[in-house]
Amino acid sequence: MTGANSSPLRVAIAGLGTVGAGTLRVLRDNRDLLTQRCGRTIEVIAVSARDRKRDRGVDVAGIPWFDDAVAMAREAPADIFVELIGGSDGPARAACEAALSARRHVVTANKALIARHGVVLAKHAESVGVTLAYEAAVAGGIPIIKTLREGLAANRFTRVYGILNGTCNYILSTMRTSQRDFGNVLAEAQALGYAEADPSFDIDGIDTAHKLAILASLAFGTPVNFDAIHIEGIRHISLMDIHLAEELGYRIKLLGIAEMTDNGLQQRVHPCMVPLDAPIAHVEGAFNAVVCHGNFVNTIMQVGPGAGAGPTASAVVADIIDIARGRRTPTFTVPASELAEIPVSPMARHHGACYVRLIVVDRPGVFADVAAALRDNNISMEAVLQRGRRPGETVPVVLTTHESDEGAMRRTLEAIAALDAVTEPPRMIRIEPF
Ligand code: HSE
Repeated sequence: MTGANSSPLRVAIAGLGTVGAGTLRVLRDNRDLLTQRCGRTIEVIAVSARDRKRDRGVDVAGIPWFDDAVAMAREAPADIFVELIGGSDGPARAACEAALSARRHVVTANKALIARHGVVLAKHAESVGVTLAYEAAVAGGIPIIKTLREGLAANRFTRVYGILNGTCNYILSTMRTSQRDFGNVLAEAQALGYAEADPSFDIDGIDTAHKLAILASLAFGTPVNFDAIHIEGIRHISLMDIHLAEELGYRIKLLGIAEMTDNGLQQRVHPCMVPLDAPIAHVEGAFNAVVCHGNFVNTIMQVGPGAGAGPTASAVVADIIDIARGRRTPTFTVPASELAEIPVSPMARHHGACYVRLIVVDRPGVFADVAAALRDNNISMEAVLQRGRRPGETVPVVLTTHESDEGAMRRTLEAIAALDAVTEPPRMIRIEPF
């Protein structure tokens, strides 16, 4: 649906951190271009943030200020309320609800909010005839929401996956290239401003899962279901595993994967061994990548900056432009009331190959015991590698398995961990056959 409108589009922005200030800069620096592209001017008529005095590198002096984002959402006479506060609940959620109740369009970069409350908010928006837009919530500058909802709308999807957290990708890439350990590189990522306010959201996979839940809803036309996601982070990934992965022809990536299986929709976030000949293995640093498998388009991969002021503000303003142009699409590919429940395929039903790294005492018979644990659980080994020879002391041993059931693999790992000669918990990383 489109509709011409030549009056200025009035925007109120709540949250003037990195993305908020970036959004003001895009609206200021590209003003003429945006006016031309939208056929109308975009005017910021109100802003709200915690600290009025902070230097944001962008002038907000002439813009009416609200200390309270909810009051601004209710009272400022805006066409669009832009929520850049963050957090799944609290003022962000209250302000979005207030804006929708006042029949204002809402544009948000808030993945936690959409992952947790997206369906309720979408129903609210659709019931009052306004837009809820969230392009900036997933993969920063990559237009993946538009891609799934519009560009690839002709396709039935079988799988959508990606590198959805720049901080984790930066940490894993930098550990490998600089030979530094996890803690050291995490501190650097925080200093560079990639990390979330609470870095555990990044490194424990929560941020990736928020984004995956949104992509899965769009791709499979089902309500956002964050609680269905199996989530593991990257805290336990060591330099040793990164080196051994390369020796075996893999690179370790934290992926979010949503795929339709025979048992239903499986959504999982965990470190993966990705073959070095897969393009996504070479997406490095703070970059994100999203791969979509559609039944007619086949495979599409988009790569780009997943965070930062410019890329994220670019996505926020893209949503504002759509609204300025009068362009309307359902919030999640189909109207929120038509999203259909799909059975959840739990992680226990996952079937795949694995890398297992052990630290064992180097003495005769140890490997026979490890092999017996595999045999007892019907797991077939693909390769085995021992690094070094230190009789009576510990050495790393790596094995890769053929495809097996997750449950059998877990039982095997428990049996291996209980062996006297195994001195540290076994580390398992799933191999993805891209
Ligand atoms: N902390 C996130 C990341 C920022 O590292 O990708 C964007 O959501």
